[in-house]
Amino acid sequence: MKLKTLITLAVIAAAVYIAIDFIRLTPGWRMYGWEMFTKTDDDVLAHPAWRTEANAQMPASGEGIFPDSPYVFYEGWHLFHIHDWENNLKHLRGKPGIHGLEIGSYEGFSAIWALQNILTHPSSTITCIDIFDEQKIEDRFDRNVAATGTPEKIIKVKGPSEHMIRTLEINKFDYVYIDGCHLPKWVLSDAVMSWETLKPGGLMIFDDYTHIDARPEHSRFTRINFIDDYLWNKRGQYRDSPRPAIDVFLDIYAPYLEVVFKKYQLVVRKK
Ligand SMILES: C[S@@+](CC[C@H](N)C(=O)[O-])C[C@H]1O[C@@H](n2cnc3c(N)ncnc32)[C@H](O)[C@@H]1O
Repeated sequence: MKLKTLITLAVIAAAVYIAIDFIRLTPGWRMYGWEMFTKTDDDVLAHPAWRTEANAQMPASGEGIFPDSPYVFYEGWHLFHIHDWENNLKHLRGKPGIHGLEIGSYEGFSAIWALQNILTHPSSTITCIDIFDEQKIEDRFDRNVAATGTPEKIIKVKGPSEHMIRTLEINKFDYVYIDGCHLPKWVLSDAVMSWETLKPGGLMIFDDYTHIDARPEHSRFTRINFIDDYLWNKRGQYRDSPRPAIDVFLDIYAPYLEVVFKKYQLVVRKK
C-alpha cells in the first residue's frame, strides 16, 4: 500500500475516533446514551403527581418548580431518573416494612418522590442523611417533609455522612441511594460504610456515575467552545467525578454484588 493511502487511512481513523470520543463525552450521551437521539423531553421528564391522600388538604406552596403542589423545590435533578427508579424499584412498591437510606437529600425531592411512589406502605420509611450546611436548604427540606402529611416516615439525620452512617443499624435498608458529596473520596467512603447497612438482596444506587462538572466559562484552552468542552470533559472524566470511586468499589466488591443497571446512574444488588 502506498504511503499516501496509509496516511489518509490514519487521518480518517483519527477523525472517527475523535468524533466518537466527542459524542461519548457530551452531557446528552452521558445522561441518555443512544436514547439522546430518540427521546423527547416529555419522555425523560416524568412529572410526579405530588398530591396524595395524606397531603390533599395542604395549601399549594406557590413557589419553586411545582408551585401548585404543597412543596417548595427549586431543583428537580431527580426528574431525569424517575422512569429508571420506577423500573429498578418496582418490586418494593407498596410492600410493608421497606426502608430506604438516602445520603444527600438537599430539599428532599428524591426522598419524597420515593416516599410517594415506592415506600407507600404506612410501615415503610426513608432515612435522610445530609450535612445541611445551608440553613435555607434545611428549612426547605423540613417544610417539604411536613407537607408530605406523613413526616413520621422520614427520619432526618443531620451531619456528615462519614460520621452519621456509623449510627445506623446493620442490614436494615432495602436500598441505599448515594447522592452526597460527589468527590471520589467521599463517594467511596459512603459506599463502603453504607454497604453494611444494606440487606442482602438490597440495591445500592449511585448517582452521577458519568457526571463531569461543566467547564467554567473562564477555563479556555483554545477559545473554540466545542474543543474546549471536549478537552475539559476528557480531563475531568476520571478526576472530579464519582466514577473513579464507583469503579474501584465495583472492582473490589465484585464477588459480593451484581450490577443491575448502568447509565448515568448505576445500580448494584448485594448478593
Ligand atoms: C445533589 S444534592 C442531593 C439531591 C437529592 N438527592 C435530590 O435528588 O433531590 C447533594 C446533597 O449532599 C449533601 N452533602 C454533601 N456532602 C455531604 C456529606 N459529606 N455528608 C452528608 N451530606 C452531604 C449536600 O448538602 C446536598 O444537600
